[in-house]
Amino acid sequence: MLRMPSLNITDIHECRFLLFDDLHLLWGQAAGAESGKAILVVDGNVLAAHRDRIENAFPDDSVRCFEVPPGEGSKNSDMWNRIIDFAFSGPLRRNTPLIAIGGGVTGDLAGFAASTLMRGLPLFHVPTTLLAMVDSAVGGKTGINHTFGKNTIGTFYHPQAVLFDTAFLETLPQREWLCGLSEVLKYGYISDPELLDKAAALAEPSGRFPERLRLVIERSVRIKSDIVAADAREAGKRAWLNFGHTFGHALETLDNYRNINHGEAVYAGMIAALFVSRHFGHEVSDEPLLELKTNYRLDIDAYTSRVDELVTLMTHDKKNRDQDIRLVLVSGHGKPLIASISDKTLLRDAWIYAFDVLA
Ligand SMILES: NC(=O)c1ccc[n+]([C@@H]2O[C@H](COP(=O)([O-])OP(=O)(O)OC[C@H]3O[C@@H](n4cnc5c(N)ncnc54)[C@H](O)[C@@H]3O)[C@@H](O)[C@H]2O)c1
Repeated sequence: MLRMPSLNITDIHECRFLLFDDLHLLWGQAAGAESGKAILVVDGNVLAAHRDRIENAFPDDSVRCFEVPPGEGSKNSDMWNRIIDFAFSGPLRRNTPLIAIGGGVTGDLAGFAASTLMRGLPLFHVPTTLLAMVDSAVGGKTGINHTFGKNTIGTFYHPQAVLFDTAFLETLPQREWLCGLSEVLKYGYISDPELLDKAAALAEPSGRFPERLRLVIERSVRIKSDIVAADAREAGKRAWLNFGHTFGHALETLDNYRNINHGEAVYAGMIAALFVSRHFGHEVSDEPLLELKTNYRLDIDAYTSRVDELVTLMTHDKKNRDQDIRLVLVSGHGKPLIASISDKTLLRDAWIYAFDVLA
């Protein structure tokens, strides 16, 4: 059983982060009788697996529940509209809390709805995937997808609190778990090298001791919120969070978001980014990543002969300036830097290396 040993409350940059093991605490934190019925926006798989716990966490008749069909396909204007209609179909005040319970899809969608309803309802996140706990529920980005691209419509809107209950993770499929683990490994490379070992130990269910999990979540949340606080609108430091992502996005795009998920693409992308870092003489190792190769089991056969296309896709990245590709590299473990790369052969070599070691 994954259980937090005790309650821990941390306030970081005006957002309250609560690690807890009792969902009942949510009601006391999020609402209270005077704010009327809260709106729950819950991922369908989470509701199916945890319905009793969620229902029992709130006093009778204190919430109304909107179920989000699982999957990225729900992060669109149609689903946003349905949440708006649902919100107005019952009692709604400016202080009515909106509580998002689910992974990054539910959090981004519900956060966008909360930020737009009546110019902003109090928002509470209850992340239920590892990725949402260590990444998407932290930092205040909300959004939906459009045919023009992923996350192209959205707002910056901070929740009043993020509440972590690791008991949700007990039902998280292993592949989704690894998606979150990629982000923890990223924090290890850009900020806290100790996380590299700690993350590796969490790859298998047998290594997920509560103390270890708690430490990894706390440190990851701290790293992301510190970076975001220093650069709320992505002018500088926040780019560090893209370590491995410029490579990874190209792979996801070439794959058409079919066989390789985001975390797997970022995992391969970090191996490529470390290759480029070493090319510039930095002493960094991809060993902590390669140790997890059998956990990730990437389906890359279809792409090993398509590295030129991957490099071309990288040139389309919206974060680029001029013809050069903006990449996050590391000059040591925990030491990020931003580089402008014009040498496409180097990027090609990085892909060839990554595919080679992952084969
Ligand atoms: N806002 C941000 O800063 C930010 C950062 C990173 C990613 N994101 C977004 O997050 C999304 C990805 O988030 P995600 O990886 O959490 O995906 P997700 O929300 O789609 O969840 C992954 C899958 O796990 C299921 N699930 C969730 N919790 C579960 C649980 N406890 N038990 C069993 N199944 C569970 C979901 O139904 C879904 O099928 C993307 O849309 C991405 O754009 C946002």
